[in-house]
Amino acid sequence: MKFLVLHGPNLNLLGTREPGVYGSHTLADINASLEELSVELGCGLSFFQSNSEGELIDAIQNAEHGFRGILINPAAYTHTSIAIRDALSAVGVPCVEVHLSNIHRRETFRHTSMIAPIAIGQICGFGPDSYLLGLRALFNYVKNS
Ligand code: DQA
Repeated sequence: MKFLVLHGPNLNLLGTREPGVYGSHTLADINASLEELSVELGCGLSFFQSNSEGELIDAIQNAEHGFRGILINPAAYTHTSIAIRDALSAVGVPCVEVHLSNIHRRETFRHTSMIAPIAIGQICGFGPDSYLLGLRALFNYVKNS
């Protein structure tokens, strides 16, 4: 069972980007702890980060071939991208939306997610643990469906 982990724009800067909001872990740290969890769960992972909406959409479209689920932090595209939402709906691969910060206690423009209505669920506010909780939830969902 293989899952695609997608990271949206500016997440390549984690570690130095607004550490008061996003913490000091780098994207490589997050991917490494996901990799560790995947060994425990017995599933495979592929990782992709892009600052470009189109590249994320291409990755989602290609996920139909070979991936059982998508773990996605769409970053700022969460709040704006109907195109990413449409791609996720089109491929029909189950997805879980994650965020490091609790988007619901931040600026009001972050309270809306274009993705949440078509995701299995959304986990936010737990820093890197949001990703780990999200992977566990996605794995269990796929295993039981
Ligand atoms: C984020 C929250 C978004 O609002 C923001 O644009 C990000 C990161 C998070 O993980 O907390 O880039 O997705």
